[in-house]
Amino acid sequence: MSTLPSALAQPTTSLSFVAIAIGTQNYTCSSAGTYTNVGAVASLFDISCLYNTFLFEGIPDLAIGIWKAAPPSLTPQQIISKLQLLSSPVVLGEHYYVPNPLTGQGVNPEWNFSSHGRFKGKADAYVVAAKVNNTVAPTGSRDIDWVSLKALTGKLAQEIYRTDTRLGQPPPSCNPGSPDITVKYASKYWLFGSSV
Ligand SMILES: *[C@@H]1O[C@H](CO)[C@@H](O)[C@H](O)[C@H]1NC(C)=O
Ligand SMILES: *[C@@H]1O[C@H](CO)[C@@H](O)[C@H](O)[C@H]1NC(C)=O
Ligand SMILES: *[C@@H]1O[C@H](CO)[C@@H](O)[C@H](O)[C@H]1NC(C)=O
Repeated sequence: MSTLPSALAQPTTSLSFVAIAIGTQNYTCSSAGTYTNVGAVASLFDISCLYNTFLFEGIPDLAIGIWKAAPPSLTPQQIISKLQLLSSPVVLGEHYYVPNPLTGQGVNPEWNFSSHGRFKGKADAYVVAAKVNNTVAPTGSRDIDWVSLKALTGKLAQEIYRTDTRLGQPPPSCNPGSPDITVKYASKYWLFGSSV
């Protein structure tokens, strides 16, 4: 069974959603010649039905393998369909970055489910969150950190975890002035304490 990393504080609210996500991490080249993360865009698919099955463990490797090899013409939903695990993949929503809703300074991650399924049209089915803590991925340095976050605004969750990450790390260096890059990744997202 996949569990949350013990290095991160455990959630205090109950599990509401667990998703597999495929998308990109975005990086900009700093004047120091290293990449800085400037956001991410991903689609989330419901994997609650795989929880407590052996497929739950394997899905991040399947997802990143297919996502890496996918022609650009395929949508994330078509790609997830290829997994054959989710006969009719249920799109939960989208993950992207928005300006900090409290300070207006910098960007924060958002998860927004208000365009799909039972949350369609529900304006409060989103959460914008801030990072609480992170820990290196146990699967190695090619995979982005596992992270815990807490909600700033929205009712979709109070606590969020990113685990089981695959890829998403930038190259170790860049030439200052070179264009922004996107790096494909997959991860699980766990949302706790929803009140929508
Ligand atoms: C990240 O990259 C994607 C794909 O190019 C783009 O659609 C998105 O707007 C970018 N987001 C940020 C915050 O840079
Ligand atoms: C959530 O997504 C919907 C549909 O794209 C959009 O209209 C709405 O503004 C988003 N909500 C937030 C809080 O970003
Ligand atoms: C953050 O995570 C580290 C391990 O990565 C842990 O030692 C530390 O206690 C955590 N801090 C909080 C505030 O959860």
